[in-house]
Amino acid sequence: MKEKEIKNLLNKMTLEEKIGQMVQVAGDIFLTDDINVETGPLKNLELSNEQLYQVGSILNVMGAERVKKVQDEYLSKSRLKIPLLFMDDVINGYKIAFPIPIAQGCSWSIDVIKKIAEISAMESNIAGANVNFSPMVDLSRDARWGRVMESIGGEDPYLGQVYGKAIVETYQGKDLKKLGNVASTVKHIAAYGAAEAGRDYNTVDMSEREFRQYYLPAYKAAIEANAEMVMTSFNILNGIPATINRWLIQDLLRKELGFKGIVISDYGAIEETIIHGISEDEKHAALNAINAGVDIDMMSRIYANYLKDLCLESKEIEEKVNESVLRILNLKNKLGLFENPYGNSNIEKEKTYIMSKENLEETKKLVEETFVLLKNKDNILPLNANKKIALIGPYADNTAITGSWSMFSDRKKNTTILEALKRKVKDENLLYSKGTEILRIEEINRILKADGLQTLENKNEKEEEKQMLQQAKNIAKESDIILLALGEHYRQSGEACSRSNIGLPKNQIKLIEELHKLGKPIIMILFNGRPLELSSVERKLDGILEVWFPGTMGAEAIIDVLLGNTNPSGKLTMSFPQNVGQCPIYYNHYNTGRPHNYEGRYLSRYQDIPTKSFYPFGYGLSYSKFEYRNLKLDKTKIKEDEKIKVSFEVENKSDYEGYEIVQMYIKDLFGSVVRPVKELKDFKKIYFKKHEIKKIDFEITLDMLKFWNEKLNFQAEKGEFKVYVGGNSTEVLEEKFVLE
Ligand code: BGC
Repeated sequence: MKEKEIKNLLNKMTLEEKIGQMVQVAGDIFLTDDINVETGPLKNLELSNEQLYQVGSILNVMGAERVKKVQDEYLSKSRLKIPLLFMDDVINGYKIAFPIPIAQGCSWSIDVIKKIAEISAMESNIAGANVNFSPMVDLSRDARWGRVMESIGGEDPYLGQVYGKAIVETYQGKDLKKLGNVASTVKHIAAYGAAEAGRDYNTVDMSEREFRQYYLPAYKAAIEANAEMVMTSFNILNGIPATINRWLIQDLLRKELGFKGIVISDYGAIEETIIHGISEDEKHAALNAINAGVDIDMMSRIYANYLKDLCLESKEIEEKVNESVLRILNLKNKLGLFENPYGNSNIEKEKTYIMSKENLEETKKLVEETFVLLKNKDNILPLNANKKIALIGPYADNTAITGSWSMFSDRKKNTTILEALKRKVKDENLLYSKGTEILRIEEINRILKADGLQTLENKNEKEEEKQMLQQAKNIAKESDIILLALGEHYRQSGEACSRSNIGLPKNQIKLIEELHKLGKPIIMILFNGRPLELSSVERKLDGILEVWFPGTMGAEAIIDVLLGNTNPSGKLTMSFPQNVGQCPIYYNHYNTGRPHNYEGRYLSRYQDIPTKSFYPFGYGLSYSKFEYRNLKLDKTKIKEDEKIKVSFEVENKSDYEGYEIVQMYIKDLFGSVVRPVKELKDFKKIYFKKHEIKKIDFEITLDMLKFWNEKLNFQAEKGEFKVYVGGNSTEVLEEKFVLE
């Protein structure tokens, strides 16, 4: 459609039809037989049948056939036949579940991130998606927050920027009509990851400088990459819920960043402003949200039921509604839905492309790059396949390794570690025992109950646990090496999964302790959605491979890394704390006036634990051993228009070829405001042959030295800086330079 035709269409619409475009409902409503407003699923939403057939978009209906059914049903009763938009939570893939976003980030590879985005977009587009609700680029510093698992950049704003941009560009391509392209939604704006005490949905109150310096850059990068949509966050930001925050949406997003796309609320968030105590009632909530500039109300009745009255009372509001509807119609047009309401959904292509053999093979390679080797005492890994292995643990023969957001992927079809290992080692060399459950019944039931699911019953829990432990010990005694597959339950991380204790479950710790007594080497394969507290068990383990929730091809990838067919290369994007009392802990913090590395008592430290993290940001081992040396700068003094070339050598001092992720950090030694101890400014992922020496270059540019200064201007200040290079944020070479 031409621009003029879209405007004509807008003019033909009744006020009710316009408002309908601004409402999003879960599309299953159209698939049930019971669309009766009195008794059916619409009851809670309090929408009439007429309102239902005017809504503009649908949440989480996927599958070409289902999408067609919903679209046909809707269009059959809709007066102007404006097609529905299908928006979906494709977070880490559609049918192929990829590693959870925090794991993807640990690849430090734009290529990996792009490939995952490409397959996810193609699979979901064929299955009817027009819009994906990702990337999630909320800066995440607090491991108690369950949603750190969704954060693509972890605790680092630079990673959030480069990854977020890569995902948006890959999803959207140059033409949204093209097969495999979907509109992208950057979320959750803003500073959702800074929820106090890591409790989901909790208060966020921070200085504008902190917000601009750390939290905003990743959202900004995604917006500059032309993300079509933005989703607001549930939290309040400096006193006002983000969803109705005019400063955030109007001043910052629309005016300063020039965002032209659609702003969607998060699920029910407009209505929640009443509970926040900032909207007096539902009508007031609608007024607050439209005034702030929210175009689509996700899953609440507020816009549907109150915008009309507000428009009749005020021309200004009606004008705002027209602007919002125009944005929504424009996106539908860009996606080509007026010509073809089914988009690129295609039943035939679903059969050939989705879960295709080629993509699964490719996926396995991508997954391998997301693992982080945390410990490898005496080079216990790679495993010697001729040794007798005792595979133990609740994740050893478990298919639930895709994380809590992979709701479209069929978990039950995943391969387990046990199955994958059986294919690679001789039968007589492999013994298996579960050892323990992931959680005790009482703990899992608390979670299931909160999720409204059937709880479990097991009167013999104690006896069964005892037997499992005994069996595990028996096979461990017969073996040369113990492979322990442990971790969090997948329902322990994700939305509303905050935890005040981020250790392994107690029963799993007991299993480690009991097996440790046998004196055999133990390697732990760790499944989790957040940095865990490992300090109490780490000494009892010889190897730790962090695999997060690795997804559909996880088990195969794990076995290939353990056996040394692939060299692990991932590095952490979030610091692991010594214990939960350190949270939030992050590498790019400020110095106090009394840092812990001074002598004396009155220091900024804990009495009972070290101040530093347990595993730092950027950390991860490899089967190769890399040595960094000869850091040189081509100049040590620069003017504003000059650049510095940073060069150094890295040597692979091992017989393993593999990737190393080389990182460059900068510290501004003095500023008009306090500057962090270090900030990541660039990185490269480089492949080394056995014993290869490579010369590596980075460039320091003026932009890397800029920050939000005393007057809230983004500028570099003259003076001394330090540059650091290394394989993680703490083991680094350093040099000084001056900006004149
Ligand atoms: C989450 C969003 C998600 C939305 C739609 C919300 O509860 O916060 O991230 O996109 O639901 O399912």
